[in-house]
Amino acid sequence: MPRAIQAPAKLNRFLAVLGRRADGFHDLELVTTVLSGVAELEDTLEAAPASDLSLTIEGPFGEGLVADESNLVIRAWHLLEAEAGRALPAKLRLVKRIPHGAGLGGGSSDAAAALRLGRQVFDLKVDDARLLALAARLGSDVPLFLLGGTVLGLGRGERVMPLRPIPMEPMLLVHPGLHVGTPSVYRALSQVGYPLPEPCLSLAEGAPPPWRNDLTGAAIWVCPPLAEVRAALLDAGGDPLLCGSGSAWVARFTDSSARDGAMEAFTSRHPEWRVWRI
Ligand code: C5P
Repeated sequence: MPRAIQAPAKLNRFLAVLGRRADGFHDLELVTTVLSGVAELEDTLEAAPASDLSLTIEGPFGEGLVADESNLVIRAWHLLEAEAGRALPAKLRLVKRIPHGAGLGGGSSDAAAALRLGRQVFDLKVDDARLLALAARLGSDVPLFLLGGTVLGLGRGERVMPLRPIPMEPMLLVHPGLHVGTPSVYRALSQVGYPLPEPCLSLAEGAPPPWRNDLTGAAIWVCPPLAEVRAALLDAGGDPLLCGSGSAWVARFTDSSARDGAMEAFTSRHPEWRVWRI
């Protein structure tokens, strides 16, 4: 019997760019919530021991993804093999429900799921601290998925600390079907100007952070149609925030009936956009 694990999407609720580092990455301060429990926005990763390692990708957002050595699931598996000091042959099956290039952390979440699932299936003696270190090598956003819940991210995002849950307002998540590459958005920061460095976030535990994403200007510079999505969300009475480096937007509403009304309007006016209630 294969074992399965869910790989949820994430929602950045605060993203401050504090500056560019000598290694080319950017120092960030992030507050991120892992959206576990939103079934339509969770990938599923299955693993069954086999004679060699293979990966198949399916699901509504599986098209166009390659299951080769560049895939984060395979890279995570190889890191775990190096850590274990032996091959971990398995038949992996990934069902993609999280759109990619959307700023929802789908690939990073899959990588974190692969680390956890590989450890489980092969009963590896790799502790959580070591798993976090492996996750940080795979990508800046991978460690936060190992923690889950609401997380403070520092450094390039990989230094993670759990936060108390921050209440979620009624929200809509909109994916306009555009694909925005994260590196190009970070590069564009130098075109649109770096946000002024701000003092570190110091909030009471559980208080909602400012609704801010410093990558917004750069993402719109890279992909101008993103501005149309923001305008449509504003028109619908929402308070939009870009998800990570885009292309998805989340918008918060004062109450759930305003949110549900906006959902109906979007579904009829923009049938090409995917909309989720959060
Ligand atoms: O760490 P990850 O592989 O997800 O990062 C993808 C790209 O995004 C990096 O190669 C870099 O260009 C950019 N990035 C950055 N600063 C960060 C995180 C990512 O410049 N804190």
